[in-house]
Amino acid sequence: MKPRVYLTRRVPDAVMDRLAAETEFSFNSRNQNLSRDEFIAAVRDCDAVLPTVTDRIDAAVFVACPKLKVVANFGVGINHIDVATTTSRGVIVTNTPDVLTAATADIALGLILAATRRFSEGERLVRERKWTGWEPQQLLGQDVSGATLGVLGFGRIGQAVAHRARAFDMRILYWNRTRLEPGIELELGVDYRERDDLLAEADIISLNIAYSPATHHLIDGRALARMKPSAVLVNTARGPIVDEKALVVALKERRIAGAGLDVYENEPSLEPDLYDLPNCVLLPHLGSATIGTRTRMGLLALDNLLEACAGRQPPNCVNPEVFKEPPSC
Ligand code: DGY
Repeated sequence: MKPRVYLTRRVPDAVMDRLAAETEFSFNSRNQNLSRDEFIAAVRDCDAVLPTVTDRIDAAVFVACPKLKVVANFGVGINHIDVATTTSRGVIVTNTPDVLTAATADIALGLILAATRRFSEGERLVRERKWTGWEPQQLLGQDVSGATLGVLGFGRIGQAVAHRARAFDMRILYWNRTRLEPGIELELGVDYRERDDLLAEADIISLNIAYSPATHHLIDGRALARMKPSAVLVNTARGPIVDEKALVVALKERRIAGAGLDVYENEPSLEPDLYDLPNCVLLPHLGSATIGTRTRMGLLALDNLLEACAGRQPPNCVNPEVFKEPPSC
């Protein structure tokens, strides 16, 4: 029997085709997120759901959808899913690491370049037809080549950012909860720093850490105050890692030079002043947004889902404890 699956947003065609062939599935065909009630009504009779980062999946969902056995997330970050509750109810949660590492690291580099070299301000100047010609002191930014990059969170994506940054002759510092072996640091050409020291020493700070209660507002007013006035902050991880109100103050008062943001504390809303700040490059959560990456994410989410529904531990299970007594769909 094919598992009954609900897909909360349309995904690339290759994934839709496989879902149609290998599951009994339905999906949200509107180009907007489901309300809580719509989500529950759609998922209630399903064995598995394939949600995205915009679906909040908490205890109330599991109470309302007791048949649900698998949550196969379309994405690597799972902070929108109450994993403790899913685990206590024997529901399997999976995610899609690796396949989006390169695309996310690429966009971090894009934001590093855009924020340090003031792309958005320059583009606005041209589009608003206010550019009157080359000037020796126009929109001067910070040097990228030879700068010191501080990577906060040195997992797959953080390491991929560092790898790319080396092509720009950047010196790489990192902080991670667990320090790498000295041999690996040497091989990767990176130096470890305590978090506060990294904040003070880096010219560019890239946030590549997972969001959890422990990393909520990791970059707060105090952390921002440690950064150099010439420093640039780039966030491609999760919005609530940064205290957005404190960031606005730091940008307004030029306590730091700029920021490049792909994620926000309360997406899709931004702290109102951010919209108008010139020294901030703003992207709409595009980290994994390439056709190839989103296709690979969907196919991997489906692989995970099918494995879990067959009662086998999927490769990207985030709560393997459930497999002491595996459910089957
Ligand atoms: C991820 O995979 O975590 C992306 O941010 C999209 O959810």
